[in-house]
Amino acid sequence: MALDAHAFMETMAKRISFTDEDKAILKANADWGKDIAPEMADHFYAYLGRDPEMSEILNAKEGRMHRLRETFTQWFYEMFTGIDDWGNAYADRRWRIGLVHVQIGIGPQHVVPAMAIVVNAVGQKLKEADKNEELRDALSLICMIDLAFIEQAYIEVTSAAVLQETGWTEGLFKRLISTGAASM
Ligand code: HEM
Repeated sequence: MALDAHAFMETMAKRISFTDEDKAILKANADWGKDIAPEMADHFYAYLGRDPEMSEILNAKEGRMHRLRETFTQWFYEMFTGIDDWGNAYADRRWRIGLVHVQIGIGPQHVVPAMAIVVNAVGQKLKEADKNEELRDALSLICMIDLAFIEQAYIEVTSAAVLQETGWTEGLFKRLISTGAASM
């Protein structure tokens, strides 16, 4: 039950109406994105560091914070370049980022507010730089697509693990979930 990251990217782009115009606006502002990326990373990790639970995760391994600052900066810039025009390479990269977070045990309760922080911080920057609404909208859309990848990774990894351990069919698993949800 592995996710088809390429199809998922296409579906998300369609579902959220991430258009060629959005892509063009992002690309046209890629240099600006690159310039502000390190500052966004600082802002982001300062935010994570203020939360005791997330701070513990960040500092659990030697050099993690340093690596993260670099990978986050790259991630941020890639939203503007689209890597391969927001194609398969972009999808593979976003899927991998999702899997990394699942592996470390960083859940939706961490990731969703964290993405809100990114959207908010970039919104402030856009205002300061007097950038237009279209760029803000395009950035919000791509942030949500990236968030969807991380969230979906949870579902996919959890389901795959349960199915593999138990030998249940997907149909049975879905029935058990809806029965469980109904009884909560
Ligand atoms: C907007 C949400 C987030 C984005 C865009 C993001 C971005 C990234 C990226 C690009 C990587 C590198 C993945 C790789 O190695 O391939 C990463 C890894 C990681 N992220 Fe996040 N992240 C987010 C949320 C969080 C949150 C909420 C935490 C909580 C502490 C967190 C902690 C980590 C950790 C510990 C790693 C692995 C670092 C390592 O040891 O190499 N991230 N993240």
